[in-house]
Amino acid sequence: MASTRADDTDEGTHVSGIDWDPTLETGEPLVDEQHRAFYVMCGDLVALDPGDTASVMDVIDRLGQYAEVHFATEEALMDRVSYPKEELAGHVAEHRAFRDKAATMAIDFRRGWTTDTGALLDYLSAWLTDHIDRQDRRMADYARAHGARTDPDE
Ligand SMILES: [Fe+2]
Ligand SMILES: [Fe+2]
Repeated sequence: MASTRADDTDEGTHVSGIDWDPTLETGEPLVDEQHRAFYVMCGDLVALDPGDTASVMDVIDRLGQYAEVHFATEEALMDRVSYPKEELAGHVAEHRAFRDKAATMAIDFRRGWTTDTGALLDYLSAWLTDHIDRQDRRMADYARAHGARTDPDE
């Protein structure tokens, strides 16, 4: 499991496991841009005092809203290239699982049942890295092979 501990470096606060890793690039411009934005939001979360529930909730809400935009981008791309049905179902199921988990965690934080942003970040980091590396990369390769490309200015 990726560590989310922050270490002060000359370049500022470095958080291993939450930094955008260029090897996660899929080659789909809009998808990659959106992935990088997720990592920026994770960095925002790292920088917060876990006890500052209002600010933590603000980032969690932004992450949830951004996930909707991002998943819609990917699902539209898969639609456009007639992504094989079984592959599509598996990919969309992972998006759904993320949504469910994110919604549950948002409730836990909002109700004060947890302030464990470290556990949240560990989940986000592990999910993003695994999902991007497997599902999103496969989707991007397929889209490219079938002549479709996302536009970062969309
Ligand atoms: Fe995805
Ligand atoms: Fe993605």
